[in-house]
Amino acid sequence: MTAYQTEKSRISDTQAADQLVIRQPDDWHVHLRDDDMLKAVVNYTARQFARAIVMPNLAPPVTTVAAADAYRKRILAATDPDLNFTPLMTCYLTDDIAPDEVELGFKEDVFTACKLYPANATTNSSHGVTDIRNIYSVLDAMQRIGMPLLIHGEVTDSDIDIFDREAVFIDRILKQVVADFPDLKVVFEHITTADAVAFVEEGGSNIAATVTPHHLEFNRNAMFEGGMRPHYYCLPVAKREQHRLALRRAATSGSAKFFLGTDSAPHTIGAKESACGCAGIFNAPFALESYAKTFEEEGALDKLEAFASEHGPRFYGLPLNEGKVVLTRRETRVPPTLEAAGTHVAPYHAGDTLAWTFSSLKMD
Ligand code: NCD
Ligand code: ZN
Repeated sequence: MTAYQTEKSRISDTQAADQLVIRQPDDWHVHLRDDDMLKAVVNYTARQFARAIVMPNLAPPVTTVAAADAYRKRILAATDPDLNFTPLMTCYLTDDIAPDEVELGFKEDVFTACKLYPANATTNSSHGVTDIRNIYSVLDAMQRIGMPLLIHGEVTDSDIDIFDREAVFIDRILKQVVADFPDLKVVFEHITTADAVAFVEEGGSNIAATVTPHHLEFNRNAMFEGGMRPHYYCLPVAKREQHRLALRRAATSGSAKFFLGTDSAPHTIGAKESACGCAGIFNAPFALESYAKTFEEEGALDKLEAFASEHGPRFYGLPLNEGKVVLTRRETRVPPTLEAAGTHVAPYHAGDTLAWTFSSLKMD
């Protein structure tokens, strides 16, 4: 049995007293990878979420309608059909991407959005955009057709301190983009700073942000607690406590501008525990349980459903899911490792016990 099948057989009991029944959520930012790793990880996402915005940073990146369509088919082939999961595909923007290709993919319902990676900002982003001006004709087309732009918001200049790269991106790039394309739908992805929270809050209703479970739960100290902790390393890197607190306030505020995006990004344990460890946290297996922890700590469990299941689809102009899922106040033990692609990955919260258990499978 795979780890996923073991998990599936374990989670049949939904009869506890303390339950939270919410509309089926979506994940508005996830890395599903490809090949054996895709097969190993996709059902963790499909078990909890009805839809997910799938990141295009494969090697090579997903830059054409044909590549996205083929990737979508590989995702569906790897997914348990009982889970009735819909991957929403994204187009990776490059310096020379053609506006026509982007528009065609959107009109044919293959691309849901475009992803902007500043060149070399993160994993598999070497083909990213070197100067925002190079994609202005694409942004123009996206604004016209109502196609969302998803932004990895960090400058890449080596002379900018890594902890300042998001704030500097806002000042140098994002403010200008929003001024030049006032009606463009923008999702500021996996925000990590109070500066990003303020930028989004001050923007129009076309400006929103995703927030990951891990940036809500730990600050940058976690990477250095008693030694180097590579499993807490992701990009954008976690910041100071004051920023984490700003993210928690924003996510649990009820504001429609903030919604769920896990940024689940699996790497093998060997790739994480290395002299040059990869950035990324594999949080898909217990994503809802992790968010529930934060919302409960903030006294905001009543806001979880809107954050997880309503703000995202409304922003994207998609219907809300009809199905329901159940979170039960019953301990979940997170395994220290999970098998994947002939090796192992460490799930977020490895070895921890979480207070909530996601205990409902989607079934037609
Ligand atoms: C992501 C990955 O590994 O693909 N890593 C991460 O730390 N989040 C890339 C990304 O979203 O930056
Ligand atoms: Zn990501």
